[in-house]
Amino acid sequence: TLLEGLNFNLSEEHLAVKEAARDFAQNELLPGILERDNEQKFDPKLLKRMGELGFMGMMVSPEYGGGGMDTVSYVLAMEELSKVDASASVMVSVNNSLVCYGLEAYGTEEQKQKYLTRLASGEIVGAFCLSEPEAGSDATSQHTTAEDKGEHYLVNGTKNWITNGGISSVCLVIAQTHPELKHKGINCLIVEKGWDGFAVGKKEDKMGIRASDTHSLMFSDVKVPKENRIGADGFGFKFAMSTLNGGRIGIAAQALGIAAGAFELSLKYAQERKAFGKPIFEHQAIQFKLAEMATKIEAARLLVYKAARLKDEHKDYVEAAAMAKLFASDVAMWATTEAVQIHGGYGYVKEYHVERMMRDAKITQIYEGTSEIQKLVIARELIR
Ligand code: CAA
Ligand code: FAD
Repeated sequence: TLLEGLNFNLSEEHLAVKEAARDFAQNELLPGILERDNEQKFDPKLLKRMGELGFMGMMVSPEYGGGGMDTVSYVLAMEELSKVDASASVMVSVNNSLVCYGLEAYGTEEQKQKYLTRLASGEIVGAFCLSEPEAGSDATSQHTTAEDKGEHYLVNGTKNWITNGGISSVCLVIAQTHPELKHKGINCLIVEKGWDGFAVGKKEDKMGIRASDTHSLMFSDVKVPKENRIGADGFGFKFAMSTLNGGRIGIAAQALGIAAGAFELSLKYAQERKAFGKPIFEHQAIQFKLAEMATKIEAARLLVYKAARLKDEHKDYVEAAAMAKLFASDVAMWATTEAVQIHGGYGYVKEYHVERMMRDAKITQIYEGTSEIQKLVIARELIR
């Protein structure tokens, strides 16, 4: 099965999506990126543009206002956006592969009409709320509760580090309903911002992806109607895991993009910067760094495309997605560190971008399952 999905012939449509994402990233995301990183502020106008350009609901069927594209198109766009701005691309990733995908795959027709159409067009943004102060990797230990009150659920608890937490209108909240059933008693509820008892905590002051919107969310006796539960009673944990399998492909593509962006800048810089009477590219130590970066990035790209293709072909992609994320995130951390080295002192200051990329790369080894959790997922698949 490891050789499945290796046919990566990209169509005209795929290449058009890649080019559109590249143009948008270079022309619209790049200007102002240093300020946004410094001020930890994402520009709502850019979010609106990403909606207009169709980046917020790429894989959603046109019936619900989406782009009807495949996962390969999505990873191509994610790579190009992430080459420039990983803060923007994580917002795209969460909205597409966690929120929109989850609703389209498992939501009722009413839920799709009510929420998915507006999320897919980018009119509103969604958040995916699994992690808690005391439950990150150990995601089955949910402390947030959704008590069954007949007509509605009563939600209490806190979610941590939620991407799009401040700007989202709709949150998919994972919570425990039947503690005695452990993970089989967990539900996922669609909760609207502004409902009584729903509060947004402070924005996190982060190492990287600083312009992305990360908040804790607090729920205090929030009433959620029964019709806002996704799937059958107790489906919530399966929902979270199934959705995250696809999300991990998005984050793997993000990591790939960060690495590739740092590589492109480094290759250019190495041919311009002179030391000892010649461009540093002509020093073999620098050539070797670039050759190794190019090789590892290409290997990461193959894993990302493979996972995306398997998903598009409705084959099992759990292991492929975990491998892609594990490998691409390590390549991103390593390649951005090498990029700073190639840039020397200029690499250590903000104007040359690789400093930010090195900070941004780190998160890809942590969210949507840490590298250790990806190894756990892969190991379990090996003996399944
Ligand atoms: N796909 C489908 N189902 C899965 C699954 C997967 N990848 N991984 C686990 N499951 C299912 C299991 O089959 C099991 O269900 P059954 O009992 O019905 O068979 C159930 O989930 C529980 O699994 P385990 O018994 O293996 O439970 P565990 O506690 O030993 O391990 C875990 C579970 C894999 C570690 C899981 O908790 C996990 O993935 N943790 C990481 C959480 C995570 O990725 N969080 C990301 C938050 S979102 C985010 O981060 C967004 C962002 O940054 C932008
Ligand atoms: P822990 O689970 O406490 O792990 C600490 C360390 O122990 C890690 O190195 C981990 O790999 C290791 N470890 C834990 N268990 C094991 C084990 N069994 N075997 C080996 N090693 C183990 N969550 C959401 O739900 N939605 C979001 O939108 C979201 N966005 C995020 C954005 C940012 C910027 C950040 C920082 C986090 C975000 N998260 C989000 C949370 C993220 O998914 C968690 O931080 C992550 O899953 C790790 O959980 P933790 O932080 O509790 O670490």
